[in-house]
Amino acid sequence: MAGQSRIGVTGLAVMGANLARNIASRGVAVAVHNRTRAKTTEVIEQFGGAGDFTGTPSLEEFGDAPIDAGNSHFPDTVRRTAECEANGIRFMGVGVSGGEEGALLGPSIMPGGDPEAYAEVEEIFEAIAAKVDGTPCVVHVGPGGAGHYVKMVHNGIEYADMQLIVEAYDLLTHVVGLDAPAIGKIFEEWNTGDLESFLIEITGKVLAKVDEKTGGPLVDVIVDQAGQKGTGTWTAIDALGLGIPLTGITEAVFARGLSALRSERAAAAKTLAGPTPSRKVDESLVDDIRQALYASKVVAYAQGFAQMRAASVQNDWDLHLGEMATIWRGGCIIRAQFLNRIRDAYAEHPDLDNLLMVPYFTEAVADAQDAWRRVVVTATEQGVAIPAFSSSLSYYDGYRRERGPANLIQGLRDFFGAHTYQRIDEEGAFHTRWAQDGTEVRTD
Ligand code: 6PG
Repeated sequence: MAGQSRIGVTGLAVMGANLARNIASRGVAVAVHNRTRAKTTEVIEQFGGAGDFTGTPSLEEFGDAPIDAGNSHFPDTVRRTAECEANGIRFMGVGVSGGEEGALLGPSIMPGGDPEAYAEVEEIFEAIAAKVDGTPCVVHVGPGGAGHYVKMVHNGIEYADMQLIVEAYDLLTHVVGLDAPAIGKIFEEWNTGDLESFLIEITGKVLAKVDEKTGGPLVDVIVDQAGQKGTGTWTAIDALGLGIPLTGITEAVFARGLSALRSERAAAAKTLAGPTPSRKVDESLVDDIRQALYASKVVAYAQGFAQMRAASVQNDWDLHLGEMATIWRGGCIIRAQFLNRIRDAYAEHPDLDNLLMVPYFTEAVADAQDAWRRVVVTATEQGVAIPAFSSSLSYYDGYRRERGPANLIQGLRDFFGAHTYQRIDEEGAFHTRWAQDGTEVRTD
């Protein structure tokens, strides 16, 4: 390691440079490196006075425990960990959330990999992480790719949270008939209740922003096409592989895909028919929308946590889900009051199958469900797309059914492919000779 530096940061774009500044601001000597030497010089010149920075021209001067703190795909982290291990190098895949400001002032950190390597940086990570009630938003998540996996699900939940927010915004605009500043005030108010969170807070701010060029709301002149870098898609693909229903996050990813089909939508808007609004909607829908947003959010988190649980079992990671809720309370993009409730739930029931089964969430959703159903019905009648609201409600209704309709799927599969079925009244596997004499035979 260069000079007396205890840790090095390579890659000095926004996140790297701010993390390095954060580390240095805690009195920890940090070596900095960038692929282009000029950037290293620039960072030292700009920020060197504020801490102990040493610029290093080559990576060779760095230590033997590399930390990948980017949004890496966890299978890559698993592979890199194995390759490093084979060469006697301890590798860590570390999720970092909080954007530019979080990196500088205190992010949420999700370290995965060699626990002994983590022990060497734990003190630094705890110093630079956000704190909530004095607790640092960092914990050793688990071995190998566990840290990047948890960061991936964090981002997936971020997608669902944002999709739910924009569905509420769409309904408040096109069904209730409010303008952006009025909706901004509603979000500001919502941020004082159960929905209190960073994303609800900044939604109020974004909606209130006046465009300097037009004098109208800035949001009204932003193109309605969402970008994405892939972490939401990874989360959805992983859930499909695990067989875990992840409707909220997956619909959020699809909604971004639909938003990107801008020219197709422009043509379809002129061609495809919508409903004729059948009844007048008034402002009483506003509170229904708040409740629908909250209930759908509970479902999205329940699904995301169920996914982490399944992945933990599959990969033998021993994830402590209450700790994930704890380190997401501050510093990260999905930080929210609500995570305290999730932390409490896992403290009481570490092996919980589904957050919806904890009395606090069971009751919260029960209280919200009438409003939630009204919102889904109204949006459907009015022709406003609410994929995350409605799929979350369908998940809820499907999850609370002791006997669903998949018996018919089994009958169909047995009809066309002799895939067999089980009976509710007898052990064993059965096949009906549908196309022959129609009799049932045991196949096990
Ligand atoms: C964070 C963010 C961060 C980044 C996302 C944005 O936790 O700090 O999630 O990782 O802003 O990658 O993702 P999209 O570009 O896919 O929306």
